[in-house]
Amino acid sequence: MSLATSRFPALADDFLARYRSVRARSLALAAPLSAEDQCVQSMPDASPTKWHLGHTTWFFETIVLQAHMPGYQAFDARLAYLFNSYYEVLGPRHPRPQRGLLTRPTLAQVQAYRRHVDAAIAQYLQSPGIEGQSEALALLELGLHHEQQHQELLLTDILHLLSCNPLLPAYGALPEVVAHQDASPVQWLQVGGGISQLGTDDDGLDFCFDNETPRHARLVEPFEIAHRSVSCADYLEFVQDGGYRNPLLWLSDGWAQVQSQGWAAPLYWLAPDDPRCPAPHWQVFGLEGVMALTPADAVSHLSFYEAMAYAEWAGARLPTEFEWELAVNAPGICNMLGTVWQWTRSAYEPYPGFKPRNGAVREYNGKFMVGQQVLRGSSVATPPGHSRGTYRNFFPPAARWQFSGLRLARDA
Ligand SMILES: [Fe+2]
Repeated sequence: MSLATSRFPALADDFLARYRSVRARSLALAAPLSAEDQCVQSMPDASPTKWHLGHTTWFFETIVLQAHMPGYQAFDARLAYLFNSYYEVLGPRHPRPQRGLLTRPTLAQVQAYRRHVDAAIAQYLQSPGIEGQSEALALLELGLHHEQQHQELLLTDILHLLSCNPLLPAYGALPEVVAHQDASPVQWLQVGGGISQLGTDDDGLDFCFDNETPRHARLVEPFEIAHRSVSCADYLEFVQDGGYRNPLLWLSDGWAQVQSQGWAAPLYWLAPDDPRCPAPHWQVFGLEGVMALTPADAVSHLSFYEAMAYAEWAGARLPTEFEWELAVNAPGICNMLGTVWQWTRSAYEPYPGFKPRNGAVREYNGKFMVGQQVLRGSSVATPPGHSRGTYRNFFPPAARWQFSGLRLARDA
């Protein structure tokens, strides 16, 4: 990793403050949940809250403390097997679909594990000469952004879990004020084409994940992009027009999903004839429980396939991730960040010249660059300060449990 050492003198205190703030936010997100809520896994793609709390702690312990802090004593060496997610170089691990079987360690023990690692990180950051430890500090920075990624996953995973309960219990309000989407009719913004520099470089000035690098030239034709993302009202028209019953709108794999999974609306929509629907009109289950569908809200919890079918129905298309990045600061554009992740037509591929980070974190992003689509933006569940215009999120095309929606584009 190539973060400049010059960034760090006098920043150790700032690091510790940010570390404590990020770590505290994870606990704050878990606070409304019972120990039972935090143990259960609702599907292989989702992880229990307790596992998120342990895994993010394991990341700091393994990547920073064990690699860089002389004399660090592990809290319990057996936890590495439970909380390693996918790092082959760091040894064998518990199967992902069985994370919900881990009634031990208890929640209290995982919380004690967090305190143990937090105390060691504080001690490490206050040790003499820490300013020169640029490699360790860069990994610590990565650990903070990693924990923020898991904060969003904690919310998407707990929402899925609660949706499996027939009582549809509410999680509660998010700690921060949630951005609302612009509700005005769609305006088409014109974006000029040409050769543009996209992506970013890891030059030590601002954090980025390795998959955002390197900055590189890209030819983009002129295009138009909607000033806001697709709303629930927009999407309801598609549903009511038989969008889920018309195979001509769907990619072949998407149509197969519609049929095999019985998709008829976004993941958490409750149709008026659904026995769980408390009123004779469309409702949406969310973190705050079951609420009447709000027409102006951005539609969320869509798969890539649904986003594609909607765009086809609407006579438009999805933007590529490069078009999205070019438009991120276009005059008049709204809610690129902080509302819903927006599916793009771009497959998750390395940028020209991409090189993964060195060391164990080589496995962080690069090995997942196949069979997934890029989403751009950020959502209501993304931690404050975690989003940026070059950020590349990625999920398989059938994934629906993220806060994922779409924004339309079309050729100029
Ligand atoms: Fe992770």
